Amino acid sequence: MNFTIPIFFSINENIFFNLFAFIHDVKVWNLEFSLTQLLCELIDIEAMSHTNHKAYAKPSYIQFYPTLNCNYSCRFCFNRNLPALKDIDIDDFKSILLTLKHLGIDHIDMLGGEPSLHPDLLRLIDLIDHNGLKTTISTNGTNVNLLTAISETYPKKTVRIGVSLNSEKVSHDLHTYIITFKPILKSVYSKQRILPKSCKAYMGMPGIEYFLLYRDIVNKNDVKYSVPFYRFYHDILKLKKTIGNIDGVFCSGFIPDSIHYPELDFVRCPAGTTKLSLLPNGDMYPCYLFFQFSEFKLGNILVDDFNAIWQHPILNYFRTFEKNNCPKTACSVFHSCHGGCPALSYIFYNKFSGPDPRCVNQE
Ligand SMILES: C[S@@+](CC[C@H](N)C(=O)[O-])C[C@H]1O[C@@H](n2cnc3c(N)ncnc32)[C@H](O)[C@@H]1O
Ligand code: SF4
Ligand code: SF4
Repeated sequence: MNFTIPIFFSINENIFFNLFAFIHDVKVWNLEFSLTQLLCELIDIEAMSHTNHKAYAKPSYIQFYPTLNCNYSCRFCFNRNLPALKDIDIDDFKSILLTLKHLGIDHIDMLGGEPSLHPDLLRLIDLIDHNGLKTTISTNGTNVNLLTAISETYPKKTVRIGVSLNSEKVSHDLHTYIITFKPILKSVYSKQRILPKSCKAYMGMPGIEYFLLYRDIVNKNDVKYSVPFYRFYHDILKLKKTIGNIDGVFCSGFIPDSIHYPELDFVRCPAGTTKLSLLPNGDMYPCYLFFQFSEFKLGNILVDDFNAIWQHPILNYFRTFEKNNCPKTACSVFHSCHGGCPALSYIFYNKFSGPDPRCVNQE
């Protein structure tokens, strides 16, 4: 999910390579380089040629996976296909943080995996805070003691916790944490079940913000659980009229969050424009939905110059927007929409410029 602000409103690969790893990496790099070239040549060459080459100084925030471990196995999770990686270690994280701080990036959005399973999460947060950056943390809420420790130490304006409620039950301890510290609550919105039963207690509760997440899909089988974006959009508008504290979260690849990021009006989507996504080994991608495709690796922040990562030619596609290419021209949001998610188009049609499968594969 893209933990950007809703619209209605709206990261171990060791840097000390041994010789074998070095040789191996050189080979991999060459392969990736040629794949990248191939992509630039074969995929969306037309769009690439229309790129406006607007110079973006830096991403506004980084989506960071400190760990890929998780104690849940949610059947809807967009991370289902990711290979295992070692957790980020403190020294690598310090080095990444220095790079981000130097660039002037002021916000790290932590997801994963389950961040609370990282053995040094408190230290990671402490380092972020000491370097003057803000953190948002998405958690499944299983480690209530850790969440309590974080909420007691940091004000919401520097560390914001988002608890994901996707099962039918909320434990007594988690419920107590929620009513005491009022974290953001969020649930994935599915065709079969708009809201889990566990949500009901928090609807309309003063001080609680509840977000419904537009569901990302990672394969053809998932389509039946998703709804077209325009339906989600209108459902949320309806829900908002009756339940004051509910809102929707969806990616700016549909309707840009121009209130918080005016530059999104002029680009295809946030990937490589307002954000980059970072794995625990330092590998950087345009968006977490590309983590499963090594050809979209932009570089490694622990070893590569950030400028080379940020100027990677693959990002030109996301920095370009001329018109919505969606075939559903009669769609109620067609004129505001940027065409949906290019990552899902790539997953389903092997190209960026195809339609969003959630919108076109339903009926
Ligand atoms: C991948 S989880 C990782 C962080 C943590 N384990 C958690 O559950 O919050 C980050 C957020 O993405 C949401 N999420 C997972 N799969 C999703 C999907 N297919 N579509 C939209 N959101 C999804 C989760 O509900 C959670 O709010
Ligand atoms: S314009 Fe197309 S991609 Fe956008 S919401 Fe409508 S159907 Fe979906
Ligand atoms: S590829 Fe773009 S539209 Fe799709 S989830 Fe990532 S940032 Fe959003």
